[in-house]
Parts: sequence; structure tokens; C-alpha cells
Amino acid sequence: MQEEIQVHDKVFIPYLSQSEIESGIKELAAKIDADYAGEFPLFIAILNGSFMFASEPFKHLTVASEICFIKLASYKGTTSSGHIITSIGLDTELKGKHVIILEDILDTGKTLSQFLPQIENMQPASLKIAALLHKPQATVYNVPLDYNAFKIPNKFVVGFGLDYNGLGRNIPALYQLKED
Ligand code: XMP
Ligand code: MG
Repeated sequence: MQEEIQVHDKVFIPYLSQSEIESGIKELAAKIDADYAGEFPLFIAILNGSFMFASEPFKHLTVASEICFIKLASYKGTTSSGHIITSIGLDTELKGKHVIILEDILDTGKTLSQFLPQIENMQPASLKIAALLHKPQATVYNVPLDYNAFKIPNKFVVGFGLDYNGLGRNIPALYQLKED
């Protein structure tokens, strides 16, 4: 792993190597595989950040499963809550299916806490969440996290699909913002 990398104006230091990330994801995939034995789960990966993460557990699964990809968009709404989150690209029927959401990172939990009710409205047979990374110190919204590969400190990270202002997604490992 490179010592330090620069993305835009910021410097990042190594945090998790590609092999560490991959073995964490393998464990997560094994748990999902065991829990869904005999079922036919549907994975919903949330773009853009989860595109790299999503392919990993999927490769290691032995249960027959489907995957689809969605993007979340937030609009300034007329409600007092301000933002309404809506999904783009969800063209699959969820009713009666065992759904697993794949997210790159659970930070404050705001995005998922606003989006999950929409999924629940579609009446899946069950709904679980898998996130590659979780920042427990930053999480203020109540989101049930069923599968998580790594708990990380409340510091900004890039790599493995995660970006800083659009760049850094291609880095195969995880880097953490260097403190001054
Ligand atoms: P919330 O706060 O709604 O945020 O749970 C989830 C989304 O915020 C982005 N995010 C990050 N992206 N490095 C990133 O590259 C980070 O450290 C980070 N923390 C949050 C991410 O898009 C995630 O889906
Ligand atoms: Mg994201």
C-alpha cells in the first residue's frame, strides 16, 4: 500500500489493505450465505459508493440470489423534514422477497433511515442491511445494521468505491484522512 495519497487538496493515509477488506467481506458473505440457505434473496446495492463492495459478497455466495442497483436522490421537499429521498432504477418487484440492502458506509444513518420506509412499503418478506463500513460514533439515526464488515472511527475515508468529491473510488484499498 502506498504511504500517503493525495485526492484533490487532501492527504490520506493507509487504513485497510485490499486483502483485509476482502477477508472481512468474505466473512460477511459466509454469514449471509448461512442465514439465507434455502431462500432466494434479492440484493439492492446503493450506487455510487457500493459498486465495488457489492460485487464481493455476491461472488462468494452459494445461495441463488438476484442483485439490482439503485441510486438515491434527495430533493428539497415541502415537508418540514426538508429532504425526501427517492430511488432511481428500482424496477424489480419486492413483494414477498427477502431483501438485503448493500451500502458502502453507514455514517449518520440519515440516508437509510429515510429510505427504508419506502422499501418496507413494498412489502418484502424480510429486510436486512449490510454495510461494508460503519462509523458507530457518527450514527445518530436508528438503522438496524444486520451485517457489517468493519467498524471504523469517525474519520473520512476514501477508496474501494468511496470518493472524496468524485475521486478516489478506484483505489483498491481504504485510506483515512490524515489529521494536520
Ligand atoms: P449517512 O450519514 O446518511 O451517510 O449514513 C451515508 C453516505 O454518506 C457518504 N459517506 C462517506 N463517503 N467517505 C466517503 O467517501 C466517508 O468517510 C463517508 N461517510 C459517509 C456515503 O456516500 C454514504 O453512502
Ligand atoms: Mg453511498
